[in-house]
Amino acid sequence: MAEVGIFVGTVYGNSLLVAEEAETVLKSQGHEVKLFEEGSLEAWQYYRHHFVLVVTSTTGQGDLPDSIAPLYVAIRDTVGYQPELRYGLIALGDSSYDHFCGGGHKLDDLLQEQGAARIGDLLEIDAMENPEPETVAIPWVEKWASLLK
Ligand SMILES: Cc1cc2nc3c(=O)[nH]c(=O)nc-3n(C[C@H](O)[C@H](O)[C@H](O)COP(=O)(O)O)c2cc1C
Repeated sequence: MAEVGIFVGTVYGNSLLVAEEAETVLKSQGHEVKLFEEGSLEAWQYYRHHFVLVVTSTTGQGDLPDSIAPLYVAIRDTVGYQPELRYGLIALGDSSYDHFCGGGHKLDDLLQEQGAARIGDLLEIDAMENPEPETVAIPWVEKWASLLK
């Protein structure tokens, strides 16, 4: 059993819906889960020693939503190297925009630069093809959950 902090970045609530489904899947596999709609650096500092799952959409032109952008800045400016961090990333976007899933990739790039280890592939969910993003997310989370040791 692992402790997982789910950090959500959303504008319209799609990512929150996906995060809530992920929470259900993870709990059903026996993990201890907490979901943060506006995650603080303090919460991040705790979960970087356990497991982090980021679920974020993209807004503007490849930007992170306001609900997670301050956390991105705090991680960038104050955390630095964090090789102990193990995380997963689900990025929601829309391929009709430039910078497809740019917000998720921006955070992933930062965490990679900081030496963190991503578990599994980054999942991109395209709103153009998936009107119900949770149907794509659930099988991915089931697999991801089984990799937490
Ligand atoms: C104003 C606006 C800007 C957007 N910009 C991007 C973008 O640059 N890249 C992208 O992949 N998707 C973009 N999207 C699509 C959203 O990321 C996508 O619809 C997502 O499912 C929204 O999830 P949310 O409800 O969690 O915010 C944009 C959507 C809006 C409304």
